[in-house]
Amino acid sequence: MGKFLGYICSLCRTEYAPDEVTYTCPKDGGNLDVVLDYDSIKAKYQPEDILSRHDPSLWRYLPLLPVQVPPGDSTPLHAAGGTPVFKLTSLAEKLGLQNLWLKDESKNPTASFKDRASAIVVARAQELKSKIIVTASTGNAGAALAGMSAAVGQKAIIFAPRSAPQAKVAQLLIFGAKVILVDGTYDDAFDLTVKAANEFGWYCRNTGYNPFTAEGKKTAAFEIWEWWQEAHANWHDEFGEGLDHAPLTVFVSVGDGNIISGIHKGFKDLLQLGWLPRMPRIIGVQAEGSAAISNAFHGNTETITPVSAKTIADSISVDLPRDGVRAVRASKETGGTYITVSDDEILNAIAELGRVGVFAEPAGAAAYAGLVKGSTTGVVGSEDPILVINTGSGLKDIRAAMSAVESAPIIEPTLEAVKKLL
Ligand SMILES: Cc1ncc(COP(=O)(O)O)c(C=O)c1O
Ligand SMILES: [Zn+2]
Repeated sequence: MGKFLGYICSLCRTEYAPDEVTYTCPKDGGNLDVVLDYDSIKAKYQPEDILSRHDPSLWRYLPLLPVQVPPGDSTPLHAAGGTPVFKLTSLAEKLGLQNLWLKDESKNPTASFKDRASAIVVARAQELKSKIIVTASTGNAGAALAGMSAAVGQKAIIFAPRSAPQAKVAQLLIFGAKVILVDGTYDDAFDLTVKAANEFGWYCRNTGYNPFTAEGKKTAAFEIWEWWQEAHANWHDEFGEGLDHAPLTVFVSVGDGNIISGIHKGFKDLLQLGWLPRMPRIIGVQAEGSAAISNAFHGNTETITPVSAKTIADSISVDLPRDGVRAVRASKETGGTYITVSDDEILNAIAELGRVGVFAEPAGAAAYAGLVKGSTTGVVGSEDPILVINTGSGLKDIRAAMSAVESAPIIEPTLEAVKKLL
């Protein structure tokens, strides 16, 4: 644990020792960045020490994480991360792009990006000897916490809006968490969870509140760094200078803003260690009906004004994003931007990705919808190397998936009926 030095507030820059605070800055409520002892990590490790590890999961980056691996090998908690990257050749052609890939986070143990955060928070909770972890969730963070907790026998309580998609609620229940459905929005569930955690002494995992979630999410940046180094070396002969003329551009969907902040933190960690040759450009994608962070970005302010969120993409439907300031900075500091997409554009993206074998939930497909828009508005150039992140599985929200495609015909069980149909 020697590498975990403490926290620094993202707003007032006050530094805190590890046991001085638990969640946000006591002075101004700012999100806390975990501070690692970069000098000692640098003195002790070379990138090769990590790249040569056999563990394909996010635990291969243990030297850069502020926790120890929890006991109980070979459980789903030890399988989070290590998600595949696919080349999207036909979609690239359609969009007039040359270098397009997709990192598929639906391949995580509970089928969303959130397993990364929950694995690290459960590890932290075990170190703190917390009896109960609680979280508010639109569904995925809860499913991830429930799943990762079940894997190591940790008790979990999940507060979700009663409107959460059935598949996500089913996951919560199947993983044996105590599930409480709140007759209100995600934001209502969030506030209630914080109050309940304080009242009952539970450890709170809330996104954009607990500093360890971003530490889990940053492992996606480590994987992107590792993949990009290898891909860049392998494909340089094929694509030549085209790969070098622009930095890697990463598209990610944004709700509370913690995934994008976590990814930014991962790249910043690598930069601080001197291991990242070039900072990627990070582009955040929000639903038009839930665009508080995009509004702040384009208004050139760090003041996040809440909206009354309404979008089919339930996972990114947030009135008041809890990690908004860092999320604005993730794009601003990397030369990226924010793009908003309509529900129809999200549904089209689900269908398009489906046709190349990727099944995304609305929030996951939103990132691709953002690229479609960005490729026609000059946000990306045809030679730019681009990586889109699908953050969650289409199986999480079947109702949305069914509305993205035409329904199947029903016929009599006869050959005539087949002929008539064809
Ligand atoms: C599938 C999916 N995509 C994107 C997000 C957005 O992440 P964040 O709220 O950290 O911005 C979430 C969060 O719940 C999610 O579940
Ligand atoms: Zn502060």
